[in-house]
Amino acid sequence: MKSVTVAAIQAMKRAHEKIACLTAYDYSFAALLDRAGVDMVMVGDSLGMVMQGHDSTLPVSMDDMVYHAACVARGVSRALLIVDLPFLSYQVSPARALENAGRLMKDGGAQVVKLEGGAPMADTVRFLVDRGIPVCGHIGLTPQSVHQLGGYHVQGRDGVAAHRIREDARLLQEAGASLLVLEAVPAALGEAVSAALEIPVIGIGAGAGCDGQVLVLQDMLGLYPRPSPKFSKNFMPGSASIEAAVRAFVEAVRAGTFPGPEQSFS
Ligand code: KIV
Repeated sequence: MKSVTVAAIQAMKRAHEKIACLTAYDYSFAALLDRAGVDMVMVGDSLGMVMQGHDSTLPVSMDDMVYHAACVARGVSRALLIVDLPFLSYQVSPARALENAGRLMKDGGAQVVKLEGGAPMADTVRFLVDRGIPVCGHIGLTPQSVHQLGGYHVQGRDGVAAHRIREDARLLQEAGASLLVLEAVPAALGEAVSAALEIPVIGIGAGAGCDGQVLVLQDMLGLYPRPSPKFSKNFMPGSASIEAAVRAFVEAVRAGTFPGPEQSFS
């Protein structure tokens, strides 16, 4: 049994301890992150971009997710393991979501599954939670909706959009989500959503007021050959090794010094 459980992550929020999370897609990096002290390792469908070289996360399949999750699970002995449900593996019906979430847990070693979307996904979240599957929501910029959103843009910038994100967050918590990822929203909105919820809110481009932070590993190590988002930071300069860079990320998250204003949206 892993020492970092969903309950332990939720207790960190209550104790006002910041939560550090990074993505991983393979055994060796997963073991390094676990050793370096991240609280959660996320097998994101960002693997479609950083591992497979696609322009978006849309082509990622369930088989891809199960394969990478199983590799990562072998490397993680302490941190909580969250795995993404890829595009169209959960939107079709709650029953399909349950089958695929079950695969991520049985074959991929996931402890928590993550899915994108707010109010329209609340029933699916409740369906999974009622059947024993811990769920992480993902709202704000939801990359699987990139074509509907018209690109990878900051969300929640006007009053109506900000209100919708606050409502989405509330509904997901009510539906039983264990935690939320909030992506690319103004820092003030990130702080407000985090303060309003009992469950932890993990920001990526959502400001320092969130309960924790997540980054894509390749971005924070400066390995991704395409431009990285403004909200990311390369921790390699000044670090003697990859492990030192990961430790620097964890320390910066814990101290509340990452993200700074330069990685946040106003
Ligand atoms: O796919 C992913 O890696 C993610 C995180 C960056 C939040 O969803």
